Amino acid sequence: MIYLDNSATTKPYDEVLHAFSQVATRFFANPSSLHSLGAEAEKVLTQARRQTAALLGAEESEVIFTSGGTEGNNLAVKGSALARKHHGKHIITSKIEHPSVLESIKQLKEHFDFDVTYLQPDEYGMITIEKVEEAIRPDTILVSIMHINNEVGTIQPIEQIGEMLASYPKIAFHVDAVQGAGKVPLPLKHIDLCTISGHKFHGLKGCGALYMKKGVKLLPMLSGGEQEMQARSGTESAALAASMAKALRMSTERYKSNREKMNRQKHFLLNGLANMDTVQINTPAGQSAGHIINFSVPGTEAEVLLRMLEQEEIYVSTTSACSSKRKRSSTVLLAMGKSGSVASSSIRVSLSYDTEDKDLERFLAVLEASVKKLVKLAR
Ligand SMILES: Cc1ncc(COP(=O)(O)O)c(C=O)c1O
Repeated sequence: MIYLDNSATTKPYDEVLHAFSQVATRFFANPSSLHSLGAEAEKVLTQARRQTAALLGAEESEVIFTSGGTEGNNLAVKGSALARKHHGKHIITSKIEHPSVLESIKQLKEHFDFDVTYLQPDEYGMITIEKVEEAIRPDTILVSIMHINNEVGTIQPIEQIGEMLASYPKIAFHVDAVQGAGKVPLPLKHIDLCTISGHKFHGLKGCGALYMKKGVKLLPMLSGGEQEMQARSGTESAALAASMAKALRMSTERYKSNREKMNRQKHFLLNGLANMDTVQINTPAGQSAGHIINFSVPGTEAEVLLRMLEQEEIYVSTTSACSSKRKRSSTVLLAMGKSGSVASSSIRVSLSYDTEDKDLERFLAVLEASVKKLVKLAR
């Protein structure tokens, strides 16, 4: 099996599964319970928070454990906008955000009268600092821009946007770093809210974290026992938190020792794809993450190609996992100015630190043969 769908989800590391089962068995008590078993579970939770904070470059009190990227983005976007609505009701985001951001903002627009500016990316999927600054109004209270685009891999100039926004203290800056965590470092200095998700870096599904800078206010989405700095109620899972901290530490370490290999593999794939006449590469070679490569075979159907690869036990995806079942053209590619046939025939290949060179050689060989067959059929 050749698994090249690591942006949809990753295989949990064995050490992560081990940490989960150890903690879930030994520290099963409710971390809020007053007895000693509760105190022990709380200690493990605190340690996981400390480790996660240290890996992100944050303080312990700035890490809120969540159930994943979707929840983190909902909490950051809706929670911060609703907490700030007395200062203004204008939000800036881009057309290429993940649905968990776009749909949250749509809810704010449709049900709470917020006004939204959707920034158009350039042909490389990039949102420029100038575009963000031009869109700022006196009533802007939130800017939400992702770090790495999940479909094409473009890295946004988050640090520069953050520096620029630092002179607008009324505006909260949220970054969806779900695709970047453990793969592309991101200093949090000028970021107010930042979402990560455990299953994207070999942790388990059902855990994530939201970085919330000290002093930033959020209206909680889940009300109840006021766990997680009163921002996210619900009994915490020390086991999920500990296993995610482990996954983040392992991924961060593997980034250091594997980043060059991953970049080399990305360029190997890009070169291989560039040699196929009928293939159009959508990922910008320069300003993009090492693990995501997106291409199209115009005139063919992405799902047919995906199935042909699957028959050879090669697993990739069409656009992003969340929208691929809906069989729509990629809105990200359309926003980048690509044609309808490019947007409806796109395939995303996403690597992990475990991807081997021979997997990619085989992938290119099978792809070339499959594309030839498909193009012949389409004629
Ligand atoms: C950029 C981005 N944000 C958010 C999410 C949602 O994360 P989760 O699957 O943990 O809910 C994803 C998942 O694909 C993503 O790629």
